[in-house]
Amino acid sequence: MKREWWQEEVVYQIYPKSFYDSNHDGVGDLRGITEKLDYLEYLGITMVWICPMYQSPMDDNGYDISDYKKIAPEFGTMEDFDELVAKAKERGIKIMLDLVINHTSDEHPWFQKALEDPDGPFHDYYIFQKGAKEPNNWRSVFGGSVWEKVPGRDEYYFHSFGKKQPDLNWENPKLREQLYEMVNWWLDKGIAGFRVDAITFVKKDLTWRDREADGADGLSKCTRACRNQPGIGAFLRELKERTFDLHSCVTVAEAPGVPYGELGDFMGEKGYFSMIFDFRYADLDIASGSEWFKRRPWTIKELGEKIMASQTELQKWGWGANFIENHDQPRAATKYLREGQNNPEAVKTLAAMYFFLRGLPFIYQGQELGMTNFQRNSIEEFDDLSSVDQYYRSIEEGYSPKEALEFVNLRSRDNARVPFPWNGERYGGFSTEKPWLGMAREYPPVNAKDQAGREGSILEFYREMIRFRQKGEHRDCFVWGSIEPVESSPHVIAYKRCTEEENIWCWFNFSGLEAEERVPMGNMEPVWQSHGEARVCGDFLYLKPYQSVMLKEV
Ligand code: GLC
Ligand code: CA
Repeated sequence: MKREWWQEEVVYQIYPKSFYDSNHDGVGDLRGITEKLDYLEYLGITMVWICPMYQSPMDDNGYDISDYKKIAPEFGTMEDFDELVAKAKERGIKIMLDLVINHTSDEHPWFQKALEDPDGPFHDYYIFQKGAKEPNNWRSVFGGSVWEKVPGRDEYYFHSFGKKQPDLNWENPKLREQLYEMVNWWLDKGIAGFRVDAITFVKKDLTWRDREADGADGLSKCTRACRNQPGIGAFLRELKERTFDLHSCVTVAEAPGVPYGELGDFMGEKGYFSMIFDFRYADLDIASGSEWFKRRPWTIKELGEKIMASQTELQKWGWGANFIENHDQPRAATKYLREGQNNPEAVKTLAAMYFFLRGLPFIYQGQELGMTNFQRNSIEEFDDLSSVDQYYRSIEEGYSPKEALEFVNLRSRDNARVPFPWNGERYGGFSTEKPWLGMAREYPPVNAKDQAGREGSILEFYREMIRFRQKGEHRDCFVWGSIEPVESSPHVIAYKRCTEEENIWCWFNFSGLEAEERVPMGNMEPVWQSHGEARVCGDFLYLKPYQSVMLKEV
């Protein structure tokens, strides 16, 4: 594979509403990010992905855009944005934006005009169907029918997500032209590239036929009929050729539902995007990403197998986009570590295990502090529209309100969206005003100020991992090396990173007990270990509880 500039980056994801509130109105903003560039530089990351900061009624916190070329006033101005890009650049930090082109807000002028004039050109920018009732039984990702009635007319519009997020009609070439123009406009501004939202939804099954019901609501999850449908390739290829190909940019697609057999179409040298996120192990605690009540048991062994299967498949085509958290997921420490979530050594093992996989590490704000999930006592305390939907759906499916709340606490997207704890003061120093979303703790014991410079803290561990990958003596192997699974005991995940020059074996103990691993014959030399000295005895390596160890063949 040809080497690309973006393959060496370490990405930090920012949820602008919750990062830092520079003007103390309770809502994070762009100046807040600029003011915290010191912190990002200290951490050592090289690229930032900012979740949508465009003008929006914020029904889905910016994933419902009402003007693609304006900044949401609560986040600041275009000047603030340009200043952020310029100041970040001075520190060698690139900016990646979120591209939301499967849908807009219902308050976007295109949609408003579509409603006003059913015979006008904008009507066909969206998906409408005439009739006195919903055209089919598909369930939207955020619950209820995908169809919403147009007030005063026997007509419905289609939305894969929330009802304030009407899907754009990608079948319309004029609409696609408008989107390409907008994408190029942003790239011309000098951003590094895009994280591309929900992009496997742009092609629908145009027969619109009913599907078999799969829930107490009598509906059928729409992903069967509007995600990764035949014919999507033509749209995505055109998008790439008309926009991304004209710039030296990086793209990473949120592309759930792509079978491993089709990865080559989606990523790598010939693919539509530079990389895609693979969600297979992100959702291993539930049967499906949009049904939080369908919880399933899982083991570390299964997690390890899923990760290695993913890495092996991604490696065939290109580069991984590795993550354990994002703004749609609960906190990784709670999800993956369960009883170990409050043990800093456990959090470090989890961190190192994913960080040294092959591909770009993505770090979601607060992950570097080892933040855990919150525990809310009532559904009223949630902001996230999918949390509210999942609560009522769980009850509809026969669970008690208590059980429903438990599912939502475990899975709510608000877990990751709480304001960032900068210090232990009120509201974590995020703002002097009451934040738009309740903190996990009003005076957060886990915070950046406490961890910065403190030996053994999770934040310092992240800094060390970043330095080690980017600038350490084994950089070549950790950035460019291939990856291979290594057999291990049930509570240990292990892999090998290899170049022509080096073979580095990596073990991560996910248990509170010592683990014994067989090491290959021959001499092995320590490269890195998370805490204390690892004991090697004959052919065996003894890992302490929650220890990570890397050994190099000599
Ligand atoms: C993606 C985003 C999520 C959003 C949805 C609809 O899944 O990550 O936050 O709600 O798309 O835009
Ligand atoms: Ca603010």
